[in-house]
Amino acid sequence: MRILGIETSCDETGAAIIEGKPRDHKVKLISNITSSSLSLHSKTGGIIPEIASREQIKYIIPVIKKTIENCKLKIEDLDAIAVTIGPGLIGSLLVGVETARTLAYVWRKPIIPVNHLVGHIYANFVSKIQDSSADIKFPLIGLVVSGGHTDLVYMEKHKRILWLGGTLDDAAGEALDKIGRLLSIPYPGGPHIEEHAKNGNPNRFNFPRPMIGSPNFDFSFSGLKTAVFRKVKEIQQSAPSREGFSAKTIADLCASSQQAIIDVLVKKTLDAARKYRVKSILLSGGVAANSKLREQFELKIKNEKLKIPLFFPEKRLCTDNAAMIASAGFFNYAPLDWRKVCADPELYFA
Ligand code: KG4
Ligand code: ZN
Repeated sequence: MRILGIETSCDETGAAIIEGKPRDHKVKLISNITSSSLSLHSKTGGIIPEIASREQIKYIIPVIKKTIENCKLKIEDLDAIAVTIGPGLIGSLLVGVETARTLAYVWRKPIIPVNHLVGHIYANFVSKIQDSSADIKFPLIGLVVSGGHTDLVYMEKHKRILWLGGTLDDAAGEALDKIGRLLSIPYPGGPHIEEHAKNGNPNRFNFPRPMIGSPNFDFSFSGLKTAVFRKVKEIQQSAPSREGFSAKTIADLCASSQQAIIDVLVKKTLDAARKYRVKSILLSGGVAANSKLREQFELKIKNEKLKIPLFFPEKRLCTDNAAMIASAGFFNYAPLDWRKVCADPELYFA
């Protein structure tokens, strides 16, 4: 079966084609195109929904066309269309959903509505080039850690997701983006903070690890952002005339705040993995592209002798893309009449 995936929940316009057979554990990625309006938002330090949706309109058809042309397939070779219906920005979502509905009607293809958050998890089910990793085994714990979400879920099997907890305020990626803005680092802060942090000391500033010991799987990152804000002000006031923000200070602020976020994510995810006695741990979402986060998960799992395999997608499939949507559509195949498919910006884990 070949599925065309369409993703337009935020500032990325994505289309991808995956291929899989009924009992496959992973799908093969045949074609994948992502066009981003990120550079337009970098100037303003955050996504402007109106600009994002206008760009979606511009790129959706060329991106789909190129995705199909790239793998030299014909429309007859496609078996279904999977599309992100939410959560996300309403204007952006509508572009993908209406395009998918129209194509499903005109091409006479089944259409599968996909939850973007579930999609992130399914990036793990896309085969890597020269994939030698073991198969993902259920039950599993999935951590979705992106710009808009930080959620922990338990999956007994495909189509069976239990939400365990999520952020009460800012998502981890959002906190990194806001800390980036405080430090005049370009948007989105996450990848830039990762780069600065490489030269920094994660122990120089002892930032809070919010809710790290709470007896649940919820998160909170807005207090961390406030703590960084206070520290930045303190540094500015203590050395107003001198170079308060040396490259070293920026690097240490980045390394220390990144470390605080990683500590919380690792602790809560591993607590959940132990509690639910799972057979795999899956990281996903934009923040899962962070090498330090991946390393520290691996290290902690090893040190604690947990013997639970850790999975994370290729970096390009951590941030928003359509391959993950097509993959989710494959493993959760449940087509709907195209008339009933509609965008739902508030969609969450059921
Ligand atoms: O999954 P995604 O593309 O969009 C949402 O669904 O939100 O995630 C974007 C988020 C941004 O907050 C960005 O700063 C963060 O992922 N991010 C990273 C890295 N790459 C992207 N955070 C930390 N380290 C990275 N390398
Ligand atoms: Zn996303």
